[in-house]
Amino acid sequence: MSKINVLLIGGGGREHAMAFAISESQNLGKLFVAPGNDGMDFERVSLDVDDHSQVVKFCESEAIDLVVVGPEVPLVNGLVDSVLAAGIKCFGPTAHVAQLEGSKSFTRDFAAKHNIPGPKWQAFTDSGEAISWVKGINKPFVVKADGLAAGKGVTVCDTVDETINAITEMLDLGAFGESSKTILLEERLVGQEVSLFGVSDGKDVVMLSTAQDHKRAFDGDRGPNTGGMGCISPVPGTKKLQKEFVDKFLKPVVDGMAEEGTPYVGTIYAGIMLTDEGPKLIEYNCRFGDPEAQVIIPKVESD
Ligand code: AMP
Ligand code: GLY
Repeated sequence: MSKINVLLIGGGGREHAMAFAISESQNLGKLFVAPGNDGMDFERVSLDVDDHSQVVKFCESEAIDLVVVGPEVPLVNGLVDSVLAAGIKCFGPTAHVAQLEGSKSFTRDFAAKHNIPGPKWQAFTDSGEAISWVKGINKPFVVKADGLAAGKGVTVCDTVDETINAITEMLDLGAFGESSKTILLEERLVGQEVSLFGVSDGKDVVMLSTAQDHKRAFDGDRGPNTGGMGCISPVPGTKKLQKEFVDKFLKPVVDGMAEEGTPYVGTIYAGIMLTDEGPKLIEYNCRFGDPEAQVIIPKVESD
């Protein structure tokens, strides 16, 4: 088999773990990382990943066979579509599929259509309507910016007042710019949180492992949510649930996207809450988690 030259996009701990795994492959020719980070002992290149033609040009000049995209922003922005259009193989979903991460309302609609269990939810663009809906029900909700917000666009509220404040901040004060022009109000799920990671070629899906990250900024699980500051894998007590996880959360997304003519190729990251009514979907991400990749990827024994 001829050697494969790889360009890896991204620069976090996640991409460090990915680069390390890729570098161990017997099939690897050259590996480039754009932009990488100062801790990496790999060949780093400076590319503007928003400029897709620049990325494609680099691939052509270095005879890149495979582009691997780590973070969500270039996925949602369609970098994979541009690379595939140039005839270069890519690991990562297209922009259509990446809406599963880029739009929480897209995901909830998709989940409803494909019978993937989740919380009750409602989308709003008008704060007055959202607030009177909350006052009518008189319960706290989870308030979410519809679009990408670097893992910070969710407020899990304990009171009705907190819910109203979060609605006002997102819809009236533009806390997350374009991303919070639409918000979701979701029923608060209670239980243990588990992240599942799978990889798919568009037809089949293989589950890698589960992980659980630690999100709150302060000790004792207090303070605002961060993107995750450490994690464990696998999540204790979840081995017996693996088949249920695959059947309820990984297969339906791969089959659903294939049916719609937009196959899911890449990493599937499902955030799940283990509730008294069974596991329910919190969210899909279309990439490895960070820090989760750092504990999941080193456990994978093959390419
Ligand atoms: P997300 O950005 O969707 O991952 O949300 C960040 C965090 O908020 C999740 O990891 C959960 O801890 C929490 N969260 C999100 N949605 C819900 C929900 N419907 N019920 C309870 N907690 C939630
Ligand atoms: N650690 C959570 C995430 O990568 O989204």
